[in-house]
Parts: sequence; structure tokens; C-alpha cells
Amino acid sequence: MNINNLEHLITELDNCDPSNVDNYLEIMKAVSFDETAVKDHLAWNQTPYTRNSLKKTDNYELVLLCWDAGQESPIHNHTGSDGWVRGLLGEIVESRYTLNDGTEPKLIAETTVKPGMIAHINDQLGIHKLSNKTDKKAASLHLYVSPLAGCETYNDDETPNADYINNITN
Ligand SMILES: [Fe+2]
Repeated sequence: MNINNLEHLITELDNCDPSNVDNYLEIMKAVSFDETAVKDHLAWNQTPYTRNSLKKTDNYELVLLCWDAGQESPIHNHTGSDGWVRGLLGEIVESRYTLNDGTEPKLIAETTVKPGMIAHINDQLGIHKLSNKTDKKAASLHLYVSPLAGCETYNDDETPNADYINNITN
């Protein structure tokens, strides 16, 4: 399978069997387009980054995130959802943490997600933040199964608290 435009991707996601989340990974692996396929949705005009929902159903949400130079998310969990991050433009660093005592994030890995690369996250794998550490614009495609209902965010200064927020952090 070769998915070279956004409409094809959404069709495949709509038809995906949700009983096995690996089916969604296979679809994300088949994405072959670059940022020009979502050029009508690219925008870098919000802080801490720009979030653009491309499609949301009962089973999944597909989101385009645009990261201006230096922008980053807070550390956050995914409240039971699986998430895949696929690089689309520029470079995003995924910093992954575990919670030592349930509240204090401990950095365990940093991965640079370049165009075509996919990172997988869920609450069993850890929590994470995403950062554009470069001086160029970046964009990434995010798939959530099920759609994120919200996230818990964590301080990265080792302050042991977690604040529940209702808006979506990715
Ligand atoms: Fe995330």
C-alpha cells in the first residue's frame, strides 16, 4: 500500500479494523506524502504550537501539528489512547519519560523524528513531550486511537505534581 495524499489516508483510517491498533500503524507506515499534501492545513500561528484536527471519528483522530522554531509541548500522558507521531517536515525531538513514583517524570530516551519516521506512545510505554529544537519550522502528523479525551501534564523541573487539563495536548 502506498498512501500519497490526505484523502487516501483518511479513507484507509475510516475503513480500518479498530480491534487491533497495529492495523493503524500499518496505515501510517504506508504514508508516502510530504508536507505539500497538507499544505492547505499548514499554519504556524499559535502557542505553544499549532494544532489542526484533520479528521475525528469515534475510533480515531488525525491531527496536524505545526511547530515553529523552539516550540514544544508540555510533558503529557495519553489517557489510555495509542498515539503515533509521523514526521512530515523538519525535525521533532521526542523526549520520553517514566514516572518513578507515579508523579515525577524521569527522562529515559530522546529520539529525533524526521520526515517518514514514526514514534509510538501510550501510557504503558511512558509519557513524553515533543520539541522543535531547530531554528526552522516543523510539522508532524499525529494519529490517536481512540481520540484523545484529554491529557495529564507534568512539570519537567521534577516538581512532583500532575495537573489535569481538559484541552488536548497531544
Ligand atoms: Fe503526545
